[in-house]
Amino acid sequence: MTAPGDTTATTSASFASLVDSAHLTGIEAESQAAHRLYEHLIALWAPGVIEAAHDLGAFSALTVAPATAVQLAEILDTDLRATRVLLDGLSAYDVVRRSPGADGQAVYTLPAELHEVFSPDGLYSLAGKISHDRNVAWNAWRNLAENVRSGARDATGGERVNQISEEDYTSLVRGINFWAPPIVRALADALRELGWSTGESAQVLDVGCGTGIYSQLMLREFPALTANGLDTGRITAIAARQAQELGVADRFRVVVKDFWNDDWGTDVDLALFVNIFHLQTPESARELLLKSTKSLSQNGLIAIADHIVDDDDGAGSVQNKFFRLFAASMLATGGGDAYTLHDYDQWLADSELRRVALLDTPMHRVLLARRA
Ligand SMILES: C[S@@+](CC[C@H](N)C(=O)[O-])C[C@H]1O[C@@H](n2cnc3c(N)ncnc32)[C@H](O)[C@@H]1O
Repeated sequence: MTAPGDTTATTSASFASLVDSAHLTGIEAESQAAHRLYEHLIALWAPGVIEAAHDLGAFSALTVAPATAVQLAEILDTDLRATRVLLDGLSAYDVVRRSPGADGQAVYTLPAELHEVFSPDGLYSLAGKISHDRNVAWNAWRNLAENVRSGARDATGGERVNQISEEDYTSLVRGINFWAPPIVRALADALRELGWSTGESAQVLDVGCGTGIYSQLMLREFPALTANGLDTGRITAIAARQAQELGVADRFRVVVKDFWNDDWGTDVDLALFVNIFHLQTPESARELLLKSTKSLSQNGLIAIADHIVDDDDGAGSVQNKFFRLFAASMLATGGGDAYTLHDYDQWLADSELRRVALLDTPMHRVLLARRA
């Protein structure tokens, strides 16, 4: 794993455009616009080449050592020319580095910071996200127009929560751990500002915990904390294993429950909801908050990390742009939304809660609330 703050890590900001727009000066506006939109349309090529390489085992092979197309085609038992085409495509996205080899053949290197990202066992691996794309997203996006026509509705015509199968969650939750470090850093800093100290004991309930990464990293920040990770049986098994790996198993307990139908217990000092609200309908979101108030201790806090659109953010933040697209992805895959801050404030008020902080993180906002 590369250290936090290591600036050698590849970031999306380093990704160069595929259109050399210097040569568009003086060209008809329509042609310029088509160049710009074409670049959006070929965004499909990125998961195309990355996920094909992943399916073929190219990243595992390149994690062992850099290789030429000849060497890689031999290892993967693939067509030589096609393997070269795939590797060159990956190099356009800076996923592999292409450099001249001794005998004129290009050598392809997987940057060190991407080794863990493609390994199924990496803490911040995207392998689960790739499986989710393969199993759910690729087909789902085809249905977006139909879902816009009819709305994301269930058989009775009601709005649907986004509910994929437990099996699909098994791969998805292991592919989104990478979001956790900046969110936990922002949350922990805000809690300290609100008076949380390292030595004080407190209880966290991580609702729909997935791998439990958020509460587990919080346990590392606050040594007197204990956490319950609530999720379905198959998912909590992943969380229990990861708690061991992160060295916090003595303070992390799994709770196999259905968050709709089962009781959540009481005396919770921090009820944590990460990536849970965007799966909801407005009604089910309100219901979740109402339910959480019953489990909170007197001074208990609720933390929601999600794609929270702030309509007052006049500058048009990167977050808002991403959240609005995320809403489209929820619609494509069957329901949910990126709700606005106004929506959350309304649901909080309905549960006699009030917002006490709103924090920006790279791809989420974190909302903290307590009893009004
Ligand atoms: C999008 S994932 C988020 C996981 C985790 N909080 C994170 O951000 O990495 C949603 C999680 O909610 C869990 N979940 C969905 N419906 C649930 C229910 N009715 N009861 C318990 N867990 C549920 C899923 O199993 C899944 O782990």
